Amino acid sequence: MSEAKADTADYPEQFRGIRRQIDRRLDEIAPDISGCAPRLKASIRYSLLDSGKRLRPLIAVLTAEALGGQAARALDAACAIEMVHTASLMVDDLPCMDNASQRRGKPANHIAHGEDIAILGSITLISDAFGLIAADAHLPADVKVDLIHALSTAIGTDGLCAGQERDLREINDHADAEALAQLQSQKTGALFVLCLEAGARIAGLERDALEPLRAFGTHAGLAFQILDDLLDAVGHSAVTGKDQGADLGKQTYAAIMTLDEAEARAEREVSEALAALEPAGIDPEPFAAFLNLVLQAYQSQLDPGQARQAGAGL
Ligand code: IPE
Ligand code: IPE
Ligand code: MG
Ligand code: MG
Ligand code: MG
Repeated sequence: MSEAKADTADYPEQFRGIRRQIDRRLDEIAPDISGCAPRLKASIRYSLLDSGKRLRPLIAVLTAEALGGQAARALDAACAIEMVHTASLMVDDLPCMDNASQRRGKPANHIAHGEDIAILGSITLISDAFGLIAADAHLPADVKVDLIHALSTAIGTDGLCAGQERDLREINDHADAEALAQLQSQKTGALFVLCLEAGARIAGLERDALEPLRAFGTHAGLAFQILDDLLDAVGHSAVTGKDQGADLGKQTYAAIMTLDEAEARAEREVSEALAALEPAGIDPEPFAAFLNLVLQAYQSQLDPGQARQAGAGL
């Protein structure tokens, strides 16, 4: 696959720096196991403090910085989004959903901690994510209310939960690529869009200036989910750290088109993501570098000879 055009010279180092800040902050946020409910706390630590790629908090912080904001001000909101994402993975892996046994290179949360505790852990993580934004001392009240509202929308009946419901239950429908794109924009795109909105609002962008960034998030999220679908079909567990073939029988891009067609569609989404920024006069370079990271993570996970790398090499 071709790369999005970006002068990537400084970005890998910048990304590693952001990633270190995110991991440090998540470590502070994660509950200490001492005291009451040690099983619940252990389950949260188990999934939150592991080798996720941290793509969502990365693009949230990167967006804030690219628009003139400070990374430190975006860090807690970015971690809140990662907490919701992690919770969604704990739920997604349950026997009643994708019935996955591995996640991020180790046993899925419900296998290590039990289904009951995994469900409670995911609920706690989502609740704590809202609390983290509400308590964020860096942000003015109007921005916090916007972020809380946007997070609620991204999770709810037109967001991640809606997309997940359709992913689980519309398996017998014959989706075309556009219907599937709409499902994926709820299941995966909503959190990506939220990352862009959060970074932009924290950097001081007004509500009515968010649309180009939202469009970037939608296209980037779709490109990412198409590649994730392909990895489920043709990737290798030892590299992805997840069960292979967990989505067999579902509506995925891997099911409705060839590998080449799906990769071409992902590339088209990458181009459209960058094109969406043009009318707003936003410097596309950091965003192109982020998309390159997504493409590189996909490429490296296709290769069975690769050792699994925490954070896609970040
Ligand atoms: C996996 O997301 C879930 C999808 C929406 C496809 P990631 O591939 O970003 O998962 P982690 O956080 O790196 O484990
Ligand atoms: C999960 O999508 C997206 C969520 C909203 C949790 P997938 O089921 O494709 O994610 P993976 O492949 O298990 O990470
Ligand atoms: Mg799933
Ligand atoms: Mg899954
Ligand atoms: Mg998948």
